[in-house]
Amino acid sequence: MEPTTQYELRLARRMSRLGTETAFEVLNKARALEKQGRDIVHLEIGEPDFDTPPNIVEAAVQALHKGWTHYGPSAGLPELRQTIADEITRTRGVPCKADEVVVVPGGKPIIFFSILSLVDEGDEVIYPNPGFPIYESMIQYIGGRAVPIKLREERDFRLDVDELASLITDRTRLIIINSPHNPTGGVLDRRDIHDIAEAIGDRNIMVLSDEIYSRLIFEGQHYSLMAVPGFKDRTILLDGFSKTYAMTGWRMGYGVMRADLAAQVTRLMTNSNSCTASFTQVAGIEALKGVQASVEHMRSEFQSRRDVFVAGLNRIKGFSCRMPKGAFYVFPNIQKTGWTSKKLADALLEEAGVACLSGTAFGSFGEGYLRFSVANSLENLNKALDNIQKWTAKNL
Ligand SMILES: Cc1ncc(COP(=O)(O)O)c(C=O)c1O
Repeated sequence: MEPTTQYELRLARRMSRLGTETAFEVLNKARALEKQGRDIVHLEIGEPDFDTPPNIVEAAVQALHKGWTHYGPSAGLPELRQTIADEITRTRGVPCKADEVVVVPGGKPIIFFSILSLVDEGDEVIYPNPGFPIYESMIQYIGGRAVPIKLREERDFRLDVDELASLITDRTRLIIINSPHNPTGGVLDRRDIHDIAEAIGDRNIMVLSDEIYSRLIFEGQHYSLMAVPGFKDRTILLDGFSKTYAMTGWRMGYGVMRADLAAQVTRLMTNSNSCTASFTQVAGIEALKGVQASVEHMRSEFQSRRDVFVAGLNRIKGFSCRMPKGAFYVFPNIQKTGWTSKKLADALLEEAGVACLSGTAFGSFGEGYLRFSVANSLENLNKALDNIQKWTAKNL
Protein backbone atom coordinates (compact mmCIF):
# COMPACT_ATOMS: atom_id res chain seq x y z
CA MET A 1 0.00 0.00 0.00
CA GLU A 2 1.32 3.49 -0.89
CA PRO A 3 2.15 5.52 2.24
CA THR A 4 -0.24 8.47 2.53
CA THR A 5 1.55 10.12 5.41
CA GLN A 6 5.10 10.99 6.36
CA TYR A 7 4.44 9.53 9.82
CA GLU A 8 5.33 5.90 10.23
CA LEU A 9 2.56 3.88 11.86
CA ARG A 10 4.05 2.73 15.14
CA LEU A 11 1.83 -0.06 16.40
CA ALA A 12 2.04 -1.57 19.87
CA ARG A 13 4.01 -4.82 19.76
CA ARG A 14 1.06 -6.84 20.93
CA MET A 15 -0.77 -6.11 17.66
CA SER A 16 1.61 -8.49 15.88
CA ARG A 17 0.23 -11.28 18.06
CA LEU A 18 -3.39 -10.61 17.18
CA GLY A 19 -4.97 -13.22 14.89
CA THR A 20 -8.15 -12.99 12.89
CA GLU A 21 -11.26 -14.80 11.74
CA THR A 22 -10.61 -15.79 8.14
CA ALA A 23 -14.32 -16.14 7.40
CA PHE A 24 -14.59 -12.38 7.05
CA GLU A 25 -11.59 -12.24 4.69
CA VAL A 26 -12.98 -14.99 2.45
CA LEU A 27 -16.35 -13.23 2.45
CA ASN A 28 -14.65 -10.04 1.19
CA LYS A 29 -12.76 -11.97 -1.49
CA ALA A 30 -15.99 -13.69 -2.59
CA ARG A 31 -17.78 -10.32 -2.76
CA ALA A 32 -14.96 -8.90 -4.89
CA LEU A 33 -15.39 -11.81 -7.32
CA GLU A 34 -19.15 -11.18 -7.39
CA LYS A 35 -18.47 -7.55 -8.31
CA GLN A 36 -16.60 -8.86 -11.36
CA GLY A 37 -19.78 -10.69 -12.34
CA ARG A 38 -18.95 -14.13 -10.91
CA ASP A 39 -21.65 -16.30 -9.34
CA ILE A 40 -20.56 -17.49 -5.86
CA VAL A 41 -22.31 -19.83 -3.41
CA HIS A 42 -21.55 -18.56 0.10
CA LEU A 43 -20.76 -21.39 2.47
CA GLU A 44 -17.98 -19.58 4.34
CA ILE A 45 -19.66 -17.46 6.96
CA GLY A 46 -21.13 -18.89 10.16
CA GLU A 47 -24.49 -17.26 10.40
CA PRO A 48 -28.06 -18.42 9.97
CA ASP A 49 -29.52 -17.41 6.61
CA PHE A 50 -32.89 -16.84 8.30
CA ASP A 51 -34.14 -13.42 9.36
CA THR A 52 -34.58 -12.65 13.05
CA PRO A 53 -38.06 -13.93 14.08
CA PRO A 54 -40.68 -11.14 13.74
CA ASN A 55 -41.75 -11.13 17.42
CA ILE A 56 -38.16 -10.20 18.37
CA VAL A 57 -37.91 -7.49 15.69
CA GLU A 58 -41.24 -6.05 16.82
CA ALA A 59 -40.09 -5.97 20.46
CA ALA A 60 -37.01 -3.96 19.41
CA VAL A 61 -39.10 -1.53 17.34
CA GLN A 62 -41.46 -0.99 20.27
CA ALA A 63 -38.50 -0.54 22.62
CA LEU A 64 -37.08 2.17 20.34
CA HIS A 65 -40.44 3.98 20.31
CA LYS A 66 -40.63 3.70 24.08
CA GLY A 67 -37.26 5.41 24.49
CA TRP A 68 -34.92 2.50 25.24
CA THR A 69 -32.22 4.56 23.58
CA HIS A 70 -30.09 5.49 26.59
CA TYR A 71 -27.17 3.99 28.45
CA GLY A 72 -28.10 1.10 30.70
CA PRO A 73 -26.21 -0.73 33.46
CA SER A 74 -22.86 -2.14 32.25
CA ALA A 75 -23.75 -5.71 33.21
CA GLY A 76 -27.08 -5.57 31.37
CA LEU A 77 -30.70 -4.68 32.11
CA PRO A 78 -31.76 -6.35 35.39
CA GLU A 79 -34.83 -7.95 33.75
CA LEU A 80 -32.75 -9.50 30.98
CA ARG A 81 -30.12 -10.75 33.44
CA GLN A 82 -32.88 -12.38 35.49
CA THR A 83 -34.44 -13.90 32.35
CA ILE A 84 -31.07 -15.34 31.34
CA ALA A 85 -30.47 -16.68 34.87
CA ASP A 86 -33.88 -18.41 34.73
CA GLU A 87 -33.09 -19.80 31.26
CA ILE A 88 -29.76 -21.24 32.42
CA THR A 89 -31.34 -22.68 35.56
CA ARG A 90 -33.95 -24.40 33.40
CA THR A 91 -31.81 -25.56 30.48
CA ARG A 92 -28.58 -26.50 32.29
CA GLY A 93 -30.16 -27.75 35.50
CA VAL A 94 -27.97 -25.58 37.72
CA PRO A 95 -29.40 -22.81 39.92
CA CYS A 96 -28.29 -19.46 38.62
CA LYS A 97 -28.85 -15.87 39.82
CA ALA A 98 -29.04 -12.54 37.97
CA ASP A 99 -25.80 -11.23 39.52
CA GLU A 100 -23.97 -14.15 37.88
CA VAL A 101 -24.92 -12.91 34.40
CA VAL A 102 -23.14 -10.28 32.28
CA VAL A 103 -24.77 -9.21 29.02
CA VAL A 104 -22.27 -8.16 26.33
CA PRO A 105 -22.33 -7.22 22.62
CA GLY A 106 -22.14 -10.76 21.15
CA GLY A 107 -20.63 -13.97 22.45
CA LYS A 108 -17.13 -12.92 21.41
CA PRO A 109 -16.52 -10.34 24.15
CA ILE A 110 -16.96 -13.08 26.77
CA ILE A 111 -13.96 -14.87 25.21
CA PHE A 112 -11.93 -11.67 25.32
CA PHE A 113 -13.04 -10.62 28.80
CA SER A 114 -12.54 -14.09 30.34
CA ILE A 115 -8.96 -14.22 29.07
CA LEU A 116 -8.26 -10.57 29.96
CA SER A 117 -9.51 -10.98 33.49
CA LEU A 118 -7.98 -14.39 34.30
CA VAL A 119 -4.79 -14.92 32.32
CA ASP A 120 -1.45 -13.27 33.09
CA GLU A 121 1.52 -13.24 30.73
CA GLY A 122 3.03 -16.73 30.58
CA ASP A 123 -0.06 -18.45 31.97
CA GLU A 124 -1.19 -21.45 29.97
CA VAL A 125 -4.56 -21.77 28.31
CA ILE A 126 -5.69 -25.07 26.78
CA TYR A 127 -8.03 -24.67 23.82
CA PRO A 128 -9.42 -26.87 21.01
CA ASN A 129 -7.57 -27.06 17.68
CA PRO A 130 -9.18 -27.04 15.20
CA GLY A 131 -11.32 -24.48 16.99
CA PHE A 132 -12.85 -21.02 16.83
CA PRO A 133 -9.80 -18.91 15.85
CA ILE A 134 -10.53 -16.13 18.31
CA TYR A 135 -9.46 -18.33 21.26
CA GLU A 136 -5.87 -18.62 20.06
CA SER A 137 -5.79 -15.02 18.86
CA MET A 138 -6.88 -13.65 22.24
CA ILE A 139 -4.61 -15.92 24.29
CA GLN A 140 -1.60 -14.80 22.27
CA TYR A 141 -2.65 -11.16 22.23
CA ILE A 142 -2.58 -10.89 26.00
CA GLY A 143 0.73 -12.82 26.18
CA GLY A 144 -0.61 -16.13 27.46
CA ARG A 145 0.80 -19.43 26.31
CA ALA A 146 -1.61 -21.08 23.89
CA VAL A 147 -1.71 -24.86 24.45
CA PRO A 148 -3.74 -26.57 21.72
CA ILE A 149 -5.57 -29.82 22.27
CA LYS A 150 -5.98 -31.68 19.01
CA LEU A 151 -9.49 -32.77 18.10
CA ARG A 152 -9.42 -35.96 16.08
CA GLU A 153 -11.77 -37.10 13.37
CA GLU A 154 -11.74 -40.71 14.62
CA ARG A 155 -13.23 -39.46 17.91
CA ASP A 156 -15.90 -37.49 16.01
CA PHE A 157 -13.87 -34.43 17.04
CA ARG A 158 -14.63 -34.88 20.75
CA LEU A 159 -11.55 -34.06 22.76
CA ASP A 160 -9.50 -36.92 24.19
CA VAL A 161 -9.66 -36.59 27.97
CA ASP A 162 -6.37 -38.44 28.56
CA GLU A 163 -4.68 -35.94 26.28
CA LEU A 164 -6.34 -33.10 28.18
CA ALA A 165 -5.07 -34.53 31.47
CA SER A 166 -1.54 -34.71 30.04
CA LEU A 167 -1.62 -31.02 29.01
CA ILE A 168 -2.65 -29.66 32.41
CA THR A 169 0.28 -28.16 34.35
CA ASP A 170 0.77 -25.87 37.35
CA ARG A 171 0.64 -22.93 34.92
CA THR A 172 -2.74 -23.89 33.43
CA ARG A 173 -5.08 -21.06 34.26
CA LEU A 174 -7.92 -21.63 31.83
CA ILE A 175 -9.32 -24.45 29.71
CA ILE A 176 -11.62 -23.64 26.80
CA ILE A 177 -14.17 -26.18 25.62
CA ASN A 178 -16.78 -25.69 22.92
CA SER A 179 -19.78 -27.93 22.33
CA PRO A 180 -21.47 -28.11 19.85
CA HIS A 181 -18.23 -27.31 18.15
CA ASN A 182 -17.20 -24.86 15.47
CA PRO A 183 -15.82 -25.87 12.93
CA THR A 184 -16.38 -29.66 13.23
CA GLY A 185 -19.96 -29.96 14.52
CA GLY A 186 -18.65 -32.31 17.23
CA VAL A 187 -20.74 -32.62 20.40
CA LEU A 188 -19.44 -33.59 23.85
CA ASP A 189 -21.72 -36.18 25.44
CA ARG A 190 -22.56 -36.57 29.10
CA ARG A 191 -19.70 -39.00 29.63
CA ASP A 192 -17.19 -36.63 28.00
CA ILE A 193 -18.28 -33.76 30.24
CA HIS A 194 -17.91 -35.91 33.36
CA ASP A 195 -14.53 -37.19 32.21
CA ILE A 196 -13.34 -33.62 31.61
CA ALA A 197 -14.49 -32.70 35.12
CA GLU A 198 -12.60 -35.68 36.50
CA ALA A 199 -9.42 -34.75 34.61
CA ILE A 200 -9.52 -31.26 36.13
CA GLY A 201 -10.35 -32.64 39.57
CA ASP A 202 -10.26 -30.06 42.35
CA ARG A 203 -7.56 -27.88 40.75
CA ASN A 204 -8.21 -24.17 40.79
CA ILE A 205 -8.53 -23.90 37.01
CA MET A 206 -11.32 -21.98 35.29
CA VAL A 207 -13.14 -23.40 32.29
CA LEU A 208 -14.64 -21.27 29.54
CA SER A 209 -17.48 -23.38 28.20
CA ASP A 210 -18.50 -21.94 24.84
CA GLU A 211 -22.10 -23.08 24.40
CA ILE A 212 -23.14 -20.62 21.68
CA TYR A 213 -24.60 -23.52 19.62
CA SER A 214 -26.37 -25.16 22.60
CA ARG A 215 -29.77 -25.12 20.87
CA LEU A 216 -28.43 -26.51 17.60
CA ILE A 217 -28.11 -30.20 18.39
CA PHE A 218 -29.29 -32.90 16.00
CA GLU A 219 -28.55 -36.02 17.99
CA GLY A 220 -28.40 -36.40 21.73
CA GLN A 221 -28.65 -33.65 24.26
CA HIS A 222 -26.62 -30.65 25.37
CA TYR A 223 -24.65 -31.04 28.60
CA SER A 224 -22.87 -28.23 30.38
CA LEU A 225 -19.83 -28.59 32.60
CA MET A 226 -21.41 -25.92 34.80
CA ALA A 227 -23.96 -28.49 35.99
CA VAL A 228 -21.33 -30.96 37.22
CA PRO A 229 -21.13 -30.79 41.03
CA GLY A 230 -18.16 -28.64 42.05
CA PHE A 231 -17.89 -26.84 38.72
CA LYS A 232 -20.41 -24.00 39.09
CA ASP A 233 -17.70 -21.72 40.54
CA ARG A 234 -15.08 -22.73 38.00
CA THR A 235 -17.13 -22.44 34.81
CA ILE A 236 -17.79 -19.42 32.65
CA LEU A 237 -20.70 -20.33 30.40
CA LEU A 238 -20.84 -18.42 27.11
CA ASP A 239 -24.10 -18.34 25.18
CA GLY A 240 -26.00 -15.73 23.24
CA PHE A 241 -28.58 -14.77 20.68
CA SER A 242 -26.57 -14.73 17.41
CA LYS A 243 -26.99 -18.35 16.35
CA THR A 244 -30.12 -19.48 18.23
CA TYR A 245 -32.32 -16.56 17.17
CA ALA A 246 -30.55 -15.53 13.93
CA MET A 247 -29.43 -12.26 15.54
CA THR A 248 -25.78 -12.10 14.44
CA GLY A 249 -25.95 -8.42 13.50
CA TRP A 250 -27.66 -7.33 16.70
CA ARG A 251 -24.55 -8.03 18.76
CA MET A 252 -25.82 -9.55 21.96
CA GLY A 253 -24.51 -12.44 24.02
CA TYR A 254 -23.80 -13.26 27.63
CA GLY A 255 -21.55 -14.94 30.12
CA VAL A 256 -22.69 -16.75 33.26
CA MET A 257 -20.09 -17.01 36.01
CA ARG A 258 -19.55 -16.68 39.77
CA ALA A 259 -20.75 -13.27 40.96
CA ASP A 260 -17.30 -12.00 42.01
CA LEU A 261 -15.92 -12.67 38.52
CA ALA A 262 -19.08 -11.21 36.93
CA ALA A 263 -18.33 -7.96 38.80
CA GLN A 264 -14.82 -7.90 37.29
CA VAL A 265 -16.07 -8.63 33.77
CA THR A 266 -18.58 -5.82 34.31
CA ARG A 267 -15.61 -3.48 34.97
CA LEU A 268 -14.20 -4.49 31.59
CA MET A 269 -17.59 -3.70 30.03
CA THR A 270 -17.59 -0.25 31.68
CA ASN A 271 -14.11 0.37 30.27
CA SER A 272 -14.86 -0.84 26.75
CA ASN A 273 -18.51 -0.70 25.69
CA SER A 274 -20.28 1.00 28.62
CA CYS A 275 -23.21 -1.31 27.98
CA THR A 276 -24.91 -3.47 25.36
CA ALA A 277 -27.47 -1.48 23.30
CA SER A 278 -30.55 -1.03 25.49
CA PHE A 279 -33.32 -1.64 22.91
CA THR A 280 -31.65 -4.87 21.75
CA GLN A 281 -31.67 -6.10 25.34
CA VAL A 282 -35.42 -5.48 25.59
CA ALA A 283 -35.79 -7.60 22.43
CA GLY A 284 -33.56 -10.21 24.07
CA ILE A 285 -36.15 -10.66 26.81
CA GLU A 286 -38.77 -11.36 24.12
CA ALA A 287 -36.39 -13.78 22.38
CA LEU A 288 -36.04 -15.88 25.52
CA LYS A 289 -39.59 -15.57 26.84
CA GLY A 290 -41.55 -15.51 23.57
CA VAL A 291 -42.61 -18.41 21.34
CA GLN A 292 -39.70 -20.68 20.43
CA ALA A 293 -41.22 -22.21 17.27
CA SER A 294 -38.71 -20.46 14.99
CA VAL A 295 -35.76 -21.94 16.93
CA GLU A 296 -37.04 -25.45 16.31
CA HIS A 297 -37.86 -24.61 12.69
CA MET A 298 -34.31 -23.39 12.01
CA ARG A 299 -32.80 -26.37 13.83
CA SER A 300 -34.72 -28.91 11.77
CA GLU A 301 -33.94 -27.03 8.55
CA PHE A 302 -30.21 -27.12 9.34
CA GLN A 303 -30.54 -30.82 10.05
CA SER A 304 -32.07 -31.68 6.68
CA ARG A 305 -29.53 -29.50 4.87
CA ARG A 306 -26.72 -31.19 6.78
CA ASP A 307 -28.03 -34.60 5.71
CA VAL A 308 -28.16 -33.61 2.04
CA PHE A 309 -24.79 -31.88 2.05
CA VAL A 310 -22.87 -34.61 3.89
CA ALA A 311 -24.32 -37.30 1.61
CA GLY A 312 -23.40 -35.18 -1.41
CA LEU A 313 -19.83 -34.58 -0.24
CA ASN A 314 -19.33 -38.29 0.38
CA ARG A 315 -20.09 -38.91 -3.31
CA ILE A 316 -17.31 -36.53 -4.42
CA LYS A 317 -13.89 -37.92 -5.30
CA GLY A 318 -11.31 -37.31 -2.58
CA PHE A 319 -13.86 -36.13 0.02
CA SER A 320 -15.08 -38.05 3.06
CA CYS A 321 -17.28 -36.51 5.68
CA ARG A 322 -18.55 -37.59 9.09
CA MET A 323 -22.05 -36.64 10.16
CA PRO A 324 -21.77 -33.67 12.55
CA LYS A 325 -24.08 -33.87 15.57
CA GLY A 326 -24.55 -30.15 16.13
CA ALA A 327 -24.02 -26.54 14.95
CA PHE A 328 -24.41 -25.78 11.24
CA TYR A 329 -21.02 -26.76 9.88
CA VAL A 330 -19.64 -29.78 8.07
CA PHE A 331 -15.94 -30.54 8.13
CA PRO A 332 -14.97 -33.01 5.39
CA ASN A 333 -11.62 -34.74 5.21
CA ILE A 334 -10.00 -33.84 1.88
CA GLN A 335 -6.62 -35.56 2.33
CA LYS A 336 -7.32 -37.99 -0.51
CA THR A 337 -7.53 -35.10 -2.98
CA GLY A 338 -3.77 -34.65 -2.52
CA TRP A 339 -4.31 -30.90 -2.14
CA THR A 340 -3.60 -28.79 0.93
CA SER A 341 -6.66 -27.27 2.57
CA LYS A 342 -5.83 -23.66 1.78
CA LYS A 343 -5.01 -24.36 -1.87
CA LEU A 344 -8.18 -26.37 -2.32
CA ALA A 345 -10.36 -23.73 -0.60
CA ASP A 346 -8.84 -21.03 -2.83
CA ALA A 347 -9.37 -23.10 -5.98
CA LEU A 348 -12.98 -23.91 -5.07
CA LEU A 349 -13.68 -20.21 -4.62
CA GLU A 350 -11.87 -19.00 -7.71
CA GLU A 351 -12.62 -21.83 -10.12
CA ALA A 352 -15.78 -23.54 -8.81
CA GLY A 353 -17.55 -20.48 -7.36
CA VAL A 354 -17.95 -22.07 -3.91
CA ALA A 355 -16.75 -20.07 -0.90
CA CYS A 356 -15.68 -22.27 2.02
CA LEU A 357 -12.91 -22.13 4.61
CA SER A 358 -9.65 -24.00 4.85
CA GLY A 359 -9.48 -26.19 7.96
CA THR A 360 -6.29 -24.33 8.82
CA ALA A 361 -8.36 -21.18 9.40
CA PHE A 362 -9.18 -22.97 12.68
CA GLY A 363 -5.62 -23.86 13.62
CA SER A 364 -2.81 -26.03 12.34
CA PHE A 365 -4.62 -29.29 13.18
CA GLY A 366 -7.30 -28.30 10.68
CA GLU A 367 -4.95 -29.23 7.81
CA GLY A 368 -6.58 -31.87 5.62
CA TYR A 369 -10.12 -30.51 6.12
CA LEU A 370 -12.47 -27.85 4.80
CA ARG A 371 -15.33 -26.16 6.60
CA PHE A 372 -18.65 -25.55 4.90
CA SER A 373 -21.52 -23.75 6.59
CA VAL A 374 -24.89 -25.31 5.73
CA ALA A 375 -26.70 -22.12 6.69
CA ASN A 376 -27.80 -21.67 3.09
CA SER A 377 -30.77 -22.83 1.00
CA LEU A 378 -30.99 -26.44 -0.22
CA GLU A 379 -30.93 -25.07 -3.74
CA ASN A 380 -27.60 -23.32 -3.14
CA LEU A 381 -26.17 -26.31 -1.28
CA ASN A 382 -27.02 -28.57 -4.21
CA LYS A 383 -25.52 -26.04 -6.60
CA ALA A 384 -22.30 -26.02 -4.53
CA LEU A 385 -22.17 -29.84 -4.59
CA ASP A 386 -22.65 -29.81 -8.32
CA ASN A 387 -19.91 -27.20 -8.85
CA ILE A 388 -17.45 -29.04 -6.59
CA GLN A 389 -18.22 -32.34 -8.27
CA LYS A 390 -17.58 -30.86 -11.73
CA TRP A 391 -14.39 -29.18 -10.54
CA THR A 392 -12.97 -32.34 -8.98
CA ALA A 393 -13.86 -34.40 -12.07
CA LYS A 394 -11.78 -31.98 -14.13
CA ASN A 395 -8.89 -31.36 -11.76
CA LEU A 396 -8.29 -34.49 -9.65
C1 LIG B 1 -17.71 -21.11 18.80
C2 LIG B 1 -18.12 -19.69 18.70
N1 LIG B 1 -18.08 -18.93 19.79
C3 LIG B 1 -18.44 -17.63 19.77
C4 LIG B 1 -18.86 -17.04 18.59
C5 LIG B 1 -19.19 -15.58 18.61
O1 LIG B 1 -20.53 -15.31 18.46
P1 LIG B 1 -21.05 -13.83 18.34
O2 LIG B 1 -21.31 -13.56 16.89
O3 LIG B 1 -22.31 -13.80 19.17
O4 LIG B 1 -20.03 -12.90 18.91
C6 LIG B 1 -18.93 -17.80 17.42
C7 LIG B 1 -19.32 -17.18 16.14
O5 LIG B 1 -19.11 -17.67 15.06
C8 LIG B 1 -18.54 -19.16 17.48
O6 LIG B 1 -18.57 -19.94 16.38
